[in-house]
Formats: sequence, C-alpha cells, structure tokens
Amino acid sequence: MEKADIGLIGLGVMGSNLALNIAEQGNRVAVFNRTTERTTEFVQSAGALTDRIVPCETIEALAEAIRPPRPVILMIKAGDPVDQQIAHLREVLGKGDSIIDAGNANFRDTLRRFSELKDSGLTFIGMGVSGGEEGARHGPSIMVGGAENAWKRVEKVLVSISAKFEGEPCVAWLGPDGAGHFVKTIHNGIEYADMQMIAEIYGVLRDGVGLEPKEIGGVFGAWNTGRLNSYLIEITEKVLMAQDPETGNPMVDMILDRAGQKGTGKWSVIEAQTLGIPATAIEAAVAARVVSSMKGEREKAQEVYGKLDSGALAGDRAALLNHLELALFAGKIAAYAQGFTVMAAASKEFGWNLPLPTIAKIWRAGCIIRSQFLGTIAEAFQAGGAEDNLLMAPAFVTMMKEAHPSLRHIVARASEAGLPVPALASALAYFDSYRQARGTSNLIQAQRDFFGAHGFERIDAEGAYHGPWGSGLSA
Ligand code: 6PG
Repeated sequence: MEKADIGLIGLGVMGSNLALNIAEQGNRVAVFNRTTERTTEFVQSAGALTDRIVPCETIEALAEAIRPPRPVILMIKAGDPVDQQIAHLREVLGKGDSIIDAGNANFRDTLRRFSELKDSGLTFIGMGVSGGEEGARHGPSIMVGGAENAWKRVEKVLVSISAKFEGEPCVAWLGPDGAGHFVKTIHNGIEYADMQMIAEIYGVLRDGVGLEPKEIGGVFGAWNTGRLNSYLIEITEKVLMAQDPETGNPMVDMILDRAGQKGTGKWSVIEAQTLGIPATAIEAAVAARVVSSMKGEREKAQEVYGKLDSGALAGDRAALLNHLELALFAGKIAAYAQGFTVMAAASKEFGWNLPLPTIAKIWRAGCIIRSQFLGTIAEAFQAGGAEDNLLMAPAFVTMMKEAHPSLRHIVARASEAGLPVPALASALAYFDSYRQARGTSNLIQAQRDFFGAHGFERIDAEGAYHGPWGSGLSA
C-alpha cells in the first residue's frame, strides 16, 4: 500500500477535522485512535476522502504506514495523555521522525518535552492550532514552535491545510521549542479579553438600555461592517439572533451564565505576571469567568444588596451606541497591546526572537480572534514605533485618541449604573496609567521605606535614599 505522508493520533472532533483537511489537500494521512471503533466510524464517514486515509489499529501499524521521515500529529487532550503517547511513539519511531503536539499544551510542558526528547533522535514540534472545529476542517491558523529543520519537513503539508488570508497562508514557524504553544496561549488570552469585553457591552445593552437579544444582535451586526469587523463580533450577532428550538425563547436567554475555561487564559495571566508584564484586560476576563462560576453566591449577594435598576442608560440611543462601539474598540486596542507586550517579553526571556508582525498576519484568518484589525497591527509593527507597546505606534495613537474618551464615558456610566465592565475598566485603567508621566508610586515608595526601610530614588539626584520618618514617626 502507498505510504502516508503524515500520521495523526486522536480522532476527536478537532483531530477528525484536521485529518479530513489534510486528506482534502491531497496528502495521504495515517490515523489512529485509542478506540478502534472511532477510527472505523471516522473512515466510514470520510466519503470521497477515504482513499487518502489509512486507518491503523495500533501505534506500531501507524508508524509502519508513514513514509520516513515520519511526522505524527497528536491531537489529544493536553497534559498526561500527551506524555503517555510520546512515550509510546518513542518505541516505534526512529531518527529523523517528528512528533507534533497540536493540542493546547502549556508551553512549559512543551519546553520539558523538548529537553526530554533532545537526545532521542526524534524531533518535536509544539504547534498551536486555532479556529475550532470549522478551522480544523477548512483551514486553521497554525503557530509552529520547534527546530527550524523539523518545520521544513512538514511545512508543505501545514501550508496546504492552513487558512489563507488573501492567498497568504496563516501558518508560520515562530521560533524554537515552546514558541508556538506560547503564542497560542496568548492568542487565547486575547480571545478571553475580546469575548469578555463583547459580553460586557452586551450587558450594558441588555441591562442598561433594556434591549432584547435580537436588537443587540442587530447592533453587533452593524458594527461588524466597521472597525470592529471580526469573527467574534460576527458570531455574537448570530448567537443573539438564534432561537431556542425547545421554548422558542432567544437561545442566549436560556443559557446559564456560568462560563467554562480550560486553562489557556489563566496560563496567559500567570506567564504575564511571571514576566512582569501587565495584562490587566486578560486578567479581568479570566477573573470574570471565575466570578461567573459562583452562581449560587451571586444569587445570594443580589438578595443582600438588591437588584440594580435596569434601563439606567436608556436615553440618546444613537449617541450611546456610538460610544459603545468606540469603547469596545479602545478596550480591544489595550487588550491586544497587552497580549503583544507579553509575547515581546517572552521572546526576550526565552530567546525566541518571535516575529510579532508575522504573528499578527497569521491571525488574520483561520483563528478565533481573526479580524482586519490584525492586519493593522502587522502594519504597525512593520512601520515601526510599536517596539515598546502597540499603544505607541503612530496609527494606534490616532485610533486610541479617537476612541479612549468613549471608553471612559462607557466605563463611567456603566459603573454609575452598577453594571460590571471589568475588562473594559481594566483596559481603561491600564491606558490611563501607561500614559501618565508622573504616577503615584512615589507614595508607594515612601510607604515601603517607612515600614521596611526599602529605600527610594529621588527625582533630583542619583542613588538610594531614606525618608525623614525616623522611628519617632512610626510610633
Ligand atoms: C481556538 C480556541 C480553542 C478553544 C479553547 C477555548 O483558538 O480555536 O481558543 O483553543 O476553543 O480551548 O478555551 P476555553 O475552553 O478555556 O474557553
């Protein structure tokens, strides 16, 4: 039998769709799943693509079915299952073969796996894949980390299956070892912030103005033709327009307000903190999901503190909508600035040399945060001026100057009305702190010196100083 070009382990929804995508692009793919029934079912459902799929009942058979040097994609649950699968693959693969972990791995696990496989003769690729089920099937955005020569061996297949933005493939080798999984994690962190800010605007329109889901859907639909044009805004409109087949009510009204999370948002925040980079909009988004999960406590708290009056923001609708659109845009700019700053810091810390404009470019299509806006980010990095922070790139200065007054207006009005807008408020606070040449940490330094003699710098002289507090003052 003709050998396969590539192998794939894990035929869950993402794995199956990726395998079909690989086959559709003219590649032969050998597949294996823990349960053989699933493999059989998958092959039976593959239609005309069956000819390019080689079903395997064992890992040994999978290794045998692929033409060397053998690349094997793992599309399985992140964590221990990946380690177990790698251990098994080490027994059946040989020098020059590669293992490609395409799950949402923690990049620290990827770093560890790299060092564990260093002397094995196998190459390892940590690959972030974004785009959900549809993306996997018809073109995801792919973020590759690993040895460059390992990437070269799989480049053709990955380019063939990736999303294309105006003909440009949304896949790139981003750097060694954990670079790909790190970038995917930050992609997801930004995704959390983006989604949370959209949800906050929905909350303002639902509880502050009293609009129905379909009316709010219409607002998002209109925004999707402008500066906010993006996949997440597009699906938000669709979600808000959908009806529950069971009750006939708007679907969104029938969904419990308790958000799940699998970890990538939290990892983004942990890594940002470890790198000493503020990612406050992402932090707020992760925290908002945690608060959302405390449904019972929130119900009790509402009984104690009372329900807020809805409709507090009804009034000049057109002006409010204009402010909301700009507020969301300003919040988005701050969140993306944070995400890219975290990546820049990680790039230095881990010696990855991450190509930030390329990252923005491969996110223009295929992934969950895809949008035109990412093209603007890529251009800003290319044009220069975004080295410290996207907020300093000339194009972004212009956009932010136009949009931040609306962010301020919306955060203020929502706060007065008691409507929670944590990600938007964090984005605003970040912006305001970032652009304030003289902040308030002089007082923090004085306090630190007062109680712990930590010392401070003076504005008028070099060196470390202590204040005139003396022991008498603390009495
Ligand atoms: C993507 C998504 C994908 C997945 C996340 C969702 O880029 O395709 O981000 O990776 O949907 O796992 O994460 P949560 O379950 O944490 O929301």
